[in-house]
Amino acid sequence: MAKKPSSPEPSRRSSRMTVPKFTALKGTGQKISMVTAYDYPFASLVDEAGVEGVLVGDSMSMVVQGHENTLPVTLDEMIYHAEMVGRAVNHALVVVDMPFPSYHLGKFKAIENAGRILKETRCQAVKLEGGVEQAETIAALVSAGIPVMAHCGLRPQNVHQLGGYRVQRDEQALISDACAAAEAGAFAMVLECIPRGIAEKITGMLSIPTIGIGAGADCDGQVLVLHDILGMASDYSPRFVKAYADLKSTVVDAVRGFRDEVRGGEFPAAEHTFE
Ligand code: KIV
Repeated sequence: MAKKPSSPEPSRRSSRMTVPKFTALKGTGQKISMVTAYDYPFASLVDEAGVEGVLVGDSMSMVVQGHENTLPVTLDEMIYHAEMVGRAVNHALVVVDMPFPSYHLGKFKAIENAGRILKETRCQAVKLEGGVEQAETIAALVSAGIPVMAHCGLRPQNVHQLGGYRVQRDEQALISDACAAAEAGAFAMVLECIPRGIAEKITGMLSIPTIGIGAGADCDGQVLVLHDILGMASDYSPRFVKAYADLKSTVVDAVRGFRDEVRGGEFPAAEHTFE
């Protein structure tokens, strides 16, 4: 008798967040948590903490690479980091940002670039900024079997056109963008930096989950940049950020402790030394 192919370990199989499961969280009463990660160790810890989604955000350009906005990070760099995150995460849904301008050069180029992300990392979906003007691209990606999380409201990749990072208040434009992205087939949507009332209205209109950042408490979920949560960010922090730890001080204190013990001849001690 032919041996049955071995199936994945049951607990792992059943606990993995998928795109359909993520979308189905809407309306269940369970709020969705999503956090960015850019490398293996932090992605493992974030996954262990039990969030529903991990985002390999193009915020990496600022947080990890030290640039002043999200424009410089390249597709190859996003893939390099997404591969580490994809290898670390066993439970959460992993979404990767398409960097500027990897989806602005036509839908076939967008499919090629998003296809690379899914082929070369173990991540499950891509995210792109835009509503009405990206609807055709979102539909093309979805028809190619590539799940898309949309990103409406403040779009950091448009920083130069916007003249800065400001709260977006044009209700009609925001609603049109959100509806266009949802109708094009996005499975979820980030709403960044918009008034709470508009976010609530959009959340009520859509059948897909809204994940807010600076969009108030009525979204279906919330996303934050990991380094902001950990208190590792630079001196400026936007109003919508909450730090749940002060790792900046912890890291500086630890390294200072090491430096002082090296200078004082206390490290390495006998127990750190081979005879
Ligand atoms: O790049 C990013 O981290 C993001 C989140 C802020 C939503 O897009």
